[in-house]
Amino acid sequence: MSGPIDLAALPHDFLWGTATSAYQIEGAVAEDGRSPSIWDTFSHTPGKIDGDDNGDVACDHYHRWREDIGLMKQLGTNAYRLSVAWPRVVPDGDGPVNPKGLAFYDELVDALLEAGITPSVTLYHWDLPQLLQDRGGWPDRDTAEHFAAYAAAVARRLGDRVTHWTTLNEPLCSAWIGHLEGTMAPGLTDLTAAVRASYHLLLGHGLAAAAIRAAVPDAAVGIVNNLSTVHAAGDSPQDEAAARRMDGHVNRWWLDPVHGRGFPADMREVYGVELPERPGDLETIAAPLDWLGLNYYFPATVADDPAGPVPHARPVRRDGVPRTGMDWEIDASGIETLLLRLTDEYGARRLYVTENGSSFPDVVRPDGTVDDPERQDYLVKHLAACASAARKGAPLAGYFAWSLLDNFEWAYGYDKRFGLVHVDYRTQARTIKGSGHRYADIVRDHRSRSRRAA
Ligand code: IFM
Repeated sequence: MSGPIDLAALPHDFLWGTATSAYQIEGAVAEDGRSPSIWDTFSHTPGKIDGDDNGDVACDHYHRWREDIGLMKQLGTNAYRLSVAWPRVVPDGDGPVNPKGLAFYDELVDALLEAGITPSVTLYHWDLPQLLQDRGGWPDRDTAEHFAAYAAAVARRLGDRVTHWTTLNEPLCSAWIGHLEGTMAPGLTDLTAAVRASYHLLLGHGLAAAAIRAAVPDAAVGIVNNLSTVHAAGDSPQDEAAARRMDGHVNRWWLDPVHGRGFPADMREVYGVELPERPGDLETIAAPLDWLGLNYYFPATVADDPAGPVPHARPVRRDGVPRTGMDWEIDASGIETLLLRLTDEYGARRLYVTENGSSFPDVVRPDGTVDDPERQDYLVKHLAACASAARKGAPLAGYFAWSLLDNFEWAYGYDKRFGLVHVDYRTQARTIKGSGHRYADIVRDHRSRSRRAA
């Protein structure tokens, strides 16, 4: 897709952003009072991360954030989604706040605003203080309470300037990948721990939402989920049922409770684990949301797998379909389907695409440029699908490209590059890729059309 995209359905004040997260870019893991998180522990455990990479230095954003804001300005973006590192702000997990940790984000927020860039602050992007993990982590109810206290501390400090707040990023990954599949921190493979973690993450979301609102009366609070469209591999009733279970596992388990529908009964049966429910929890979890965030990357196709792990639905690899460097299937129609589902089925009043992007093995050419036609194509097709959803009524208010920078891609290390900006990890040199320039053109075009129409 090379021609202009019809973005007329996107509102004039649309947020055009990029997204990152603390552990993936900051580095400086032992500076200014930061304590280790579960990702420091996990990434320093031999064999857990490709190439035994870790986030010790990452993009050195902790020291280079001014330059990185400069890149956002070059892209012409008017929003930036960042996450705050809990172990910087409350190094013990609970208890005293570290003034130097808060000061970093304070300065960052000021500089973003100064540059005309709206900060969108995520409070939890997977970096639980290790000390809390040692006391039980997310399977333990206290972690949810500590999360709310930490959220309150950040909101009190930044809330005079930040209105756009996210409690959790992709709790699915924290619970299912971190506690059930074991390929993310804390690396457990325990269904009971995973289900308890999922419950306490959502409880923490509800408690934190209330804490943010208490500190910031005009806060717009949301939660960010990574959702997938789910297709049955065949048309047998068994495969259809497997697709329904996978939909429950990756979508409904995370959406229903925050919309006051409780935890899906069919999935409770599939998991067979008692939830650590207490009276009032479901109301807390269903705190009203100002907006919903969608992170979309790929669709899923599954077949019945009665003997396999929960949800007894085996992912099926479809041949002959385009894929990214992560081996993820590319299907832009999925983002439209999900935006419309959130609108029609869950009654979303405001939506953001809080992450969307693709990894390809980019190289800096001898002339100093980075050409990434596949990422450009991915970007354009997904933006076109977003605009199509908006035309059909999805209240889409912003799009955040994942990611501003190439960064530490969790268990895949630095080999997988998602950035609109290339990072040379040896020198920390940043180079805007072709996709970054393309994004800048799209943003500029939408902005000038909006101005003309106003
Ligand atoms: O890098 C991650 C990010 O931290 C969460 N969402 C998916 C991205 C790509 O895998």
